[in-house]
Amino acid sequence: MASGLACIDGVLLPALEARVPVTDEGLIRGDGVFEVIRLYDGRPFALEAHLARMERSAHGLRLPLDVDAVRGDIEAMLAVASDGDDLVRVLATRGGRRIGLFEPMPAARASYTLGRVTYAPVRVLDGIKSLSYAANVLTSRIARERGFDEALLTSPHDRVLECPTSSFFAVTDGVLRTAPLSDHVLDSITRRVVLDVAEVAEEPITVADLEQIDEAFIASTVVEIAGVSRIEDRELQAPGPLTSDVAARVRAHIAASLGG
Ligand SMILES: Cc1ncc(COP(=O)(O)O)c(C=O)c1O
Repeated sequence: MASGLACIDGVLLPALEARVPVTDEGLIRGDGVFEVIRLYDGRPFALEAHLARMERSAHGLRLPLDVDAVRGDIEAMLAVASDGDDLVRVLATRGGRRIGLFEPMPAARASYTLGRVTYAPVRVLDGIKSLSYAANVLTSRIARERGFDEALLTSPHDRVLECPTSSFFAVTDGVLRTAPLSDHVLDSITRRVVLDVAEVAEEPITVADLEQIDEAFIASTVVEIAGVSRIEDRELQAPGPLTSDVAARVRAHIAASLGG
């Protein structure tokens, strides 16, 4: 298993020996960008979409990034990937470093309970997957302190946005809905796949709407699709019928894109 390996500026070395200077503003200010790419039997899903988003994120941050060098780093890592290397995390920092890490998949959960946490997206970071993720991980911690599996981020104006590391979809009156990008949610790769394989209304979801939903799911590179079994004290069937259908379509899309 190569999980112990890292890649710094194109050089593969044991992760424990990988170093970045403490003066790197990627560390000091969270000034940088990142992507997490899922490997299926060692093959990356949606690599080009991730690289394109990383390039957009870097452009948004005014961060110089050689995206071909990042692709080269990932190829070098894939050449040594082993069983258990499920995810590749790539970072680019303001200090000019490219960092690649293998990560194992977190333990799978069949379904999620979600607790609401108020969250105001930082508008200037729209469309940017930046290293500044303290707010996202804090919302997860707050939700877990309240006994939920994960946070459901809702804006101060009661819009339902997304989860800290996944997109959120809800079904009301048979219509599958997700927040539009204009509500400052991440342009998630998996969200795009769902929009491709299913009919989805990209329209605002309000906190009041949560009382009317029939089923809900979250979507991300890491979880693919997972049903939501409770939002606050409202129990839901998980997975609901539409969730199961979308999950199967997403899996088929991933398999087809990996070549069967
Ligand atoms: C805020 C947020 N929304 C959604 C997602 C899901 O994005 P993707 O499908 O590209 O993994 C992530 C992933 O980290 C995220 O951080």
